[in-house]
Amino acid sequence: MSRLIIEGLHKLDGEAVIHGAKNSVLPILAATILAGGTSEIANCPRLSDVRATSAILRYLGCSVTAQDEVVTVDPSGLCRSDIPDDLMREMRSSIVFLGAIAARMGEAHLSFPGGCELGPRPINLHLAALRRLGLVIEEERGRLNCHIRGQRLKGTTITLEQPSVGATENILLASATAEGVTVIVNAAREPEIVDLCCYLNACGARITGAGEGTITIEGVDRLGGCRHQVLPDRIETVTYMAAAAATGGRVVLSRTNPALIASVLPAFEEAGCHTDWSEASRLLTLEAPERLSRVTSVLTMPYPGFPTDAQAPVMAMTCVAQGTSVFIETIFDNRYRHVDELSRLGARIKVEGRVAVVEGVPRLSGAQVECTDLRGGAALVIAALAADGETEITALQHLDRGYDGLEEGLSNLGASIRREE
Ligand code: EPZ
Repeated sequence: MSRLIIEGLHKLDGEAVIHGAKNSVLPILAATILAGGTSEIANCPRLSDVRATSAILRYLGCSVTAQDEVVTVDPSGLCRSDIPDDLMREMRSSIVFLGAIAARMGEAHLSFPGGCELGPRPINLHLAALRRLGLVIEEERGRLNCHIRGQRLKGTTITLEQPSVGATENILLASATAEGVTVIVNAAREPEIVDLCCYLNACGARITGAGEGTITIEGVDRLGGCRHQVLPDRIETVTYMAAAAATGGRVVLSRTNPALIASVLPAFEEAGCHTDWSEASRLLTLEAPERLSRVTSVLTMPYPGFPTDAQAPVMAMTCVAQGTSVFIETIFDNRYRHVDELSRLGARIKVEGRVAVVEGVPRLSGAQVECTDLRGGAALVIAALAADGETEITALQHLDRGYDGLEEGLSNLGASIRREE
């Protein structure tokens, strides 16, 4: 079992490179099975979730090769339409394969994705939408056995009762080669949805309205392969900014884009940080004050609101701010599991349902803590950087799902951080 050892109170100062977005590359890799040719996915981060997705592609019969940050998928050997339990359990977001496998193979067999650290992860919106496209879905003993009624899925209008990212992705993958036109009303507007639609359109799909509330997909008979560059990871961007802010430091980020985090910048500014974007050098700079000020309130919302994935990293930096900050988590039911671990470092946080009240303290103290989930783990790293003394962080498998080389990146910024097996 590996662990991170962090000696806190080192001001971060330097440059960090942002990788491709995990939440974009996963649905895009699933989409490659729809293509009639090879796809080259560039700026692909080295993450355990990417390895898990590649394992599913190989199981289905695709050839998947990785060279530096380019993953090449040749789906010509596609021969299976099922995902075994062990592969499904490794990553609950594998449900995004359902629409793609069903559209390409005419049937799909996979298990219900388990819940996860964030609480139950229902897929009712996915299943209701796919049924409206003509997929017959039988649920029995935790398995989903699906087949298309007739030859092809048929386009229709689908209104989502909430703008689910995963459900929007499943509808896009199922409808790209369906017969006729599909309209998604109240679609998710995240940048990762736009990136997926860019990939599909580069393969020959006819999708308009990505990034808006209504997306129109005109089904085409077949898709070709393409080369696609994955957009920057906005949550990794926020994570490095919060780490620099929590240590009163400075960070210059390359290969990112401030437009992706427009809804988070006000929180950094209210905390007293100065941010700057240089169009010429395409570098995003954050400079933190000696001591942060509190962030009055953070309300997580679907894009373009404050992203739920940024809640834990930003909460970690407010633990050492002057004053009291308030967080309201509206997307997931159980997304404060990092609070107990932050409290072990001396944070003063009170949780009442969806609300967390953080009373900033002058200093945290190092302790032994355990990652509870991906972004909660990032919060512990940020808090440990701002803690007096040594912190040991375990259960790193959560972090490795979504961060490519986090300890190297922080170490290059001057953090005292090492991974011990
Ligand atoms: C995606 O999850 C991301 N994961 C999450 O990032 C992110 O937090 C989330 O979108 C919201 O932005 C990936 O892209 C792999 P949702 P997803 O469907 O698709 C409820 C991270 O840390 N819901 O938009 O699962 C659901 O329970 C991860 O990188 C239903 O009720 O999110 C949740 O409360 C964590 N029924 C809310 O909607 C459904 O059928 C938002 O879920 C589907 C969702």
